[in-house]
Amino acid sequence: MSRILRSNFKPGSPNWAGRRAQWRALGLSDADMEKPKIAIVNSSSELAICFSHLDGVAAKVKEAIRAAGGMPFEVRTAAPSDFITNAGRHGGYILPTRDLITSDIEVQVEGAMLDGMLCLASCDKTTPGQLMAAGRLNIPTIVVVCGYQDSGQYRGQHIDIEEVFLKSSYVASGGVSLAEITEMADNAVKSPGVCAGMGTANSMHIVCEALGMALPGSSPVRANSPKMMEHVRRAGERIVQMVWNDEKPRDIMSAESFANAAMVVLALSASINTVKHLQAIAMECELDVDVYELFARYANQIPLLAAIRPTGEDLIEDLEAAGGARAVMKRLETLLFANARTVSGQTVGEALRGVEVADEAVIHTLERPVSKPPSLVIVKGSLLPGGGIVRLGGPAERTLRFSGPANIFHSREEAMVAIGRGAVKPGEVVVLRGIGVKGGPGLAMTSSVVFALDGAGLIDKVGVVTEGQLSGLVNRGLVVGEASPEAMEGGPLGLVNNGDSITIDVLAREVNLDVPEAVLEARRAEQRQYGSRTERGWLSVYQRTVQPVHKGAVLLK
Ligand code: FES
Repeated sequence: MSRILRSNFKPGSPNWAGRRAQWRALGLSDADMEKPKIAIVNSSSELAICFSHLDGVAAKVKEAIRAAGGMPFEVRTAAPSDFITNAGRHGGYILPTRDLITSDIEVQVEGAMLDGMLCLASCDKTTPGQLMAAGRLNIPTIVVVCGYQDSGQYRGQHIDIEEVFLKSSYVASGGVSLAEITEMADNAVKSPGVCAGMGTANSMHIVCEALGMALPGSSPVRANSPKMMEHVRRAGERIVQMVWNDEKPRDIMSAESFANAAMVVLALSASINTVKHLQAIAMECELDVDVYELFARYANQIPLLAAIRPTGEDLIEDLEAAGGARAVMKRLETLLFANARTVSGQTVGEALRGVEVADEAVIHTLERPVSKPPSLVIVKGSLLPGGGIVRLGGPAERTLRFSGPANIFHSREEAMVAIGRGAVKPGEVVVLRGIGVKGGPGLAMTSSVVFALDGAGLIDKVGVVTEGQLSGLVNRGLVVGEASPEAMEGGPLGLVNNGDSITIDVLAREVNLDVPEAVLEARRAEQRQYGSRTERGWLSVYQRTVQPVHKGAVLLK
């Protein structure tokens, strides 16, 4: 405990005197001012159930940090929730808030020169934003997984918020009545925590553990459960040790730990959003890792080991009871990089010693997996030289090759109206462009278009190529998400005309525009920029600085 802490300024200096005046008035003692100063990053608000419990968690963490000899300071950040913050600007605020959180943390923690961070992970964008900040600041950090919510029952059946989202797309066509969707919504969420199932939030919680940034055995977990609270206490204790030992995120988040995370994502058919978030975290760590290439490399090696909703029928509770992320990693042990480090102080190999899978029916073996084809496939080709992602999910029969004429839309609303009036025909490839990270700006959520195609009985009769993101129960049809580079960046998507033939070939890992080069060359001379220009506010800053989605959609340095 002899390391000089960066937060302890030279006595008598202006920074020392100003801080002393402030902190004395806050009640800190002389001894407090010498302790490791730990930021508790609380990305929450009163707007959403995803993070409504974090104030209580922060109080417990503070107790643990104090008991371990540290001095906690709670700081708040922006706190987006996909089901609340997606209402404005066509959902354009959601992804850009990830990067706002990273900068929020930088300003508060680096500005105050605190010694370590303990980040409370909850909703979809808060966790990657916190991990990106850990990589950027590179000060001792633990991410505390703050758990999933309880789902409910609707007329004797399981109901969760993802199901409500899906079924809400059937209301316009009359497939679900207003009374039914109201009753579903009223019963879908029964306690604080993130959305149930293997959506982006639980996927990112598991990614934290696979990367080594959350304590082994801490994900997924029911929010506010005794198990979660025990990990909260241990994290508070451990972060103080990490500060004294100067154990930093870039020592933990290595090229090997990103490979481990990619393998775990593939084994669970986790959210496609994990791919760009992992790329963004690697870039903030200034690590030369091509995460898209990692997913392409491991796709054929890692079969699906557990089919959690929406991939299958098992619940996230079943995965936790079977041993959670650690048990999945145990199954993958022969393939993982065992020397990768974790915030526990142990390597991955050490942390997996003695771990057992509690339910063989939930977490399968490598020899007898749920299914062999890759759960996520990175596709490229003449239409998407940067790449796109197809989530194949589970064992269900899927179309793997589809060719058809393009039917182009420039917003999800335009596409949904067209689907509603029968203007999308079987055999077509629905193209959504002008809605990417720059064109949106902010990467529109296009799951609702897929749900509308499903509701219209078209999902297995069309292909979809969208610049937008996909989340939730998108588990049918041949859908290519996060197509890159986007039309607004001058990508080939901007050269497509209605009726042009597009071929999606998952086995060949390609999406091609079947138009002669000479024709494309002529179109290039007149290529339009699709998307909307934004002149004011955060989205304007974002639009001017964001990099392509296949580069993690991070902001320019
Ligand atoms: Fe927050 Fe799903 S909307 S976790």
